[in-house]
Amino acid sequence: MTGLKHWLLAAGVVLFAACSGGADGTKSDAGAAKPIVLGFSQIGAESEWRTANTVSIQGAARDAGITLRFSDAQQKQENQIKALRSFIAQRVDVIAFSPVVETGWETVLREAKTAKIPVILTDRAVEVSDESLYVSFIGSDFVEEGRRAGRWLTEYYSTGKGKDFKGDINIVELQGTVGSAPANDRKAGFAEIIAADPRYKVIRSQTGDFTRAKGKEVMEAFLKAEGRKINVLYAHNDDMAIGAIQAIEEAGIKPGTEIIIISIDGVKGAFEAMMAGKLNVSVECSPLLGPQLMSTVKDVVAGKQIPKRIVTEESVFPMETAAQEFPKRKY
Ligand code: AHR
Repeated sequence: MTGLKHWLLAAGVVLFAACSGGADGTKSDAGAAKPIVLGFSQIGAESEWRTANTVSIQGAARDAGITLRFSDAQQKQENQIKALRSFIAQRVDVIAFSPVVETGWETVLREAKTAKIPVILTDRAVEVSDESLYVSFIGSDFVEEGRRAGRWLTEYYSTGKGKDFKGDINIVELQGTVGSAPANDRKAGFAEIIAADPRYKVIRSQTGDFTRAKGKEVMEAFLKAEGRKINVLYAHNDDMAIGAIQAIEEAGIKPGTEIIIISIDGVKGAFEAMMAGKLNVSVECSPLLGPQLMSTVKDVVAGKQIPKRIVTEESVFPMETAAQEFPKRKY
């Protein structure tokens, strides 16, 4: 090949790269690939679920070639609002966040809209009067998770191991973070199902803020007040159930048999508790939202039509299935 031919070939490659853009949806600017910049505000690290969610988002961003600006709000809404404002000031391409509570987002979301920065909600929803303030919401159906927990319980006492039980079924409930979508919705979904039978009585209900430490502390208080009157614990997440199991054992009561325990998430810690016979069922809530988020981010930047709601598919894991399922668990 002559020197001229070499030069023409090289020039052609440079020209093609400048015109075509990155294969992964990134924009090219005068030959230099410009990766999409995503600002992500995470709630914190309150649970095993949340840690898995962070790992999923960080890994998926790396795999997708998206530059991630990650901010941890330590479970405070004010920190999330600050993070969102800082992403707007940095003029990121897309903002995504998992809102700690449902209300109080209208102003900052309007600021993002004015700055023409699309916002994607992941995991938790917001309550806003104007739905155009976000482009899509990717995450679980928390009401349905609560219903699944309720259905498992009513089947347990109607056709399952508890079918010979007589009298009222006294339930204590460990709620998630006050004002959060999963706490509100899981409470509502569960209540809807048990309302069909007056034997089910929620005798205590308090927040454990989705943490093990708080779950244990609140369960200790429930046991002090109600003792062996408690038949069932419904925890809005596995971490609180795991904390509560410690409190139950310390009170000399057998979790999983003397108190039936239902929780939500399906983290590995819950599977271990189920295999030890201490937790009866975990309703799945998948934290592995990273890949779906990254492909939605690319679609938004590419100007594609995005579904307003993307619901995660999930199952229910009773303790009898735990040993078989455990090796397949990814979080
Ligand atoms: O929003 C999802 C919930 O938040 C998970 O169930 C819980 O474990 C987490 O902290």
